[in-house]
Amino acid sequence: MHSSSSVLFVCLGNICRSPSAEAVFRKKAADAGLKIKIDSAGTQGFHKSAKPDERAMAAGEHRGYRFDNIYARKVKSDDFEKFDLILAMDESNLHDLLAQCPAEYQNKVKLFLSFAECDELEVPDPYYGGSKGFEYVLDLIEMASDGLLVSLNQTEAMN
Ligand code: 4NP
Repeated sequence: MHSSSSVLFVCLGNICRSPSAEAVFRKKAADAGLKIKIDSAGTQGFHKSAKPDERAMAAGEHRGYRFDNIYARKVKSDDFEKFDLILAMDESNLHDLLAQCPAEYQNKVKLFLSFAECDELEVPDPYYGGSKGFEYVLDLIEMASDGLLVSLNQTEAMN
């Protein structure tokens, strides 16, 4: 088992960006034959138990990703212990996560786009925008997912 065998994607509401990241990374990890525990959560719980946003699912399903069994939940205190990597969509999510994360686990919390080969640091919140925003979110998530897979494969090769 490689050292990063579980990944939690985190955004604000857990209905747009992080469930999209969960769906994309689930497919890419499965296609690569990697067994990784993958989940997503929000720093806020205002959409608790909701399915992902219809616009996020429409854009993702059009690219071949599936959103089965993804329901919104809030980040829990034991997530920091349970997951090897906790990946924030934007700086605000990162700040909120680090504020709740025990000191011993702070090194698990990173910006998701730190794995992407692009100049962007944040996956922008598409909630109040149009459909183009959801396509851009997927472009960034696909890029970062590819980088994350390379990184996990390299970690595995070292162990
Ligand atoms: P997410 O997007 O953090 O990518 O899930 C949002 C979803 C809902 C809200 C804001 C952002 N909201 O204000 O309800």
